[in-house]
Amino acid sequence: MPRHISLTQYLVEQQRQHGHIPAELRLLIEVVARACKRISISVNKGALGDVMGSADSENVQGEIQKKLDIIANEVLIEANEWGGHLAAMASEEMEGIYVVPNRFPQGEYLLLFDPLDGSSNIDVNVSIGTIFSVLKKPGGHEGVSERDFLQPGIQQEAAGYCIYGPQTTLVLTVGDGVAMFTLDREQGSWVLTQEGMRIPEDTKEFAINMSNMRHWAPPVKRYVDECLAGKTGERGKDFNMRWVASMVADVHRILTRGGIFMYPWDQREPEKAGKLRLMYEANPMSFIVEQAGGVATDGKRRIMELAPGKLHERVAVFLGSKNEVERVTGYHHEVA
Ligand code: AHG
Ligand code: MN
Ligand code: MN
Ligand code: MN
Repeated sequence: MPRHISLTQYLVEQQRQHGHIPAELRLLIEVVARACKRISISVNKGALGDVMGSADSENVQGEIQKKLDIIANEVLIEANEWGGHLAAMASEEMEGIYVVPNRFPQGEYLLLFDPLDGSSNIDVNVSIGTIFSVLKKPGGHEGVSERDFLQPGIQQEAAGYCIYGPQTTLVLTVGDGVAMFTLDREQGSWVLTQEGMRIPEDTKEFAINMSNMRHWAPPVKRYVDECLAGKTGERGKDFNMRWVASMVADVHRILTRGGIFMYPWDQREPEKAGKLRLMYEANPMSFIVEQAGGVATDGKRRIMELAPGKLHERVAVFLGSKNEVERVTGYHHEVA
């Protein structure tokens, strides 16, 4: 019988043997994982619960909120606010930061999340997820403000995502490689199902929303044109394309079998750097991808070194298999 290692056991071992994580961080991750379990139950209820469709509200990004965006956001807040491990939280679905109410003890960590990633897929029963990033509150002052959150991704203490797909799976890094846990529904526990996940350096699979092609900048167009040219073209091999429209699902596929994911800047909204948000989508995914041997850039720079200017900042994203991300990044440098 293979030894079943639970998330709790994995984290205790990280704490004890490797000295990687303090007890507080272990608690934080366990609480986030528990919240994801609850979100997964709501997701699975579907039309049998009151979870489908849109709410009557918009978030700060100007997107119509789905009921599940709001439910997932509430579940994460409720689960995390009382434990004493956090100072504040920030989310795609909240304009400002959520400071832990003073009826609870204040901790030293900051938690950022995309409570429900892939909202457009909820009602069509396609994989969706939750993405999170953990920072430490900078020392030296009382209280907490939005400025405390504006740290580059290299400062992340932990990052992860949960994917609600055919299986419910939690992928986690605390800076010691990437581990995957699968939810055992009968037991209600997270079981370690893969450790040391690695993204192959080469790939024949790319992911991008091709309908935006006419809006792309030349380096992106050049890279994708070469993929499309196939065996007889510059690249000398045929490529396959996948686009789930849930970043979690696209990144999960890349972690499992390689690939490149791109959400570039485009000229539809030239003032925005891209569609995806730096602090709770791009940074946590970049941390995971780098920990699995992949690369993540905004076309020119390493995403995790970017200094955020605001909580909901957007960024262009190129991540996944090393040699492909370096190639398209190189094309950007050539035109610079
Ligand atoms: P969210 O549902 O959290 O707002 O994120 C949606 C993001 C991301 O998950 C996905 O890769 C992308 O939007 C899909 O964009 P398109 O609609 O352009 O395909
Ligand atoms: Mn959204
Ligand atoms: Mn998202
Ligand atoms: Mn979202």
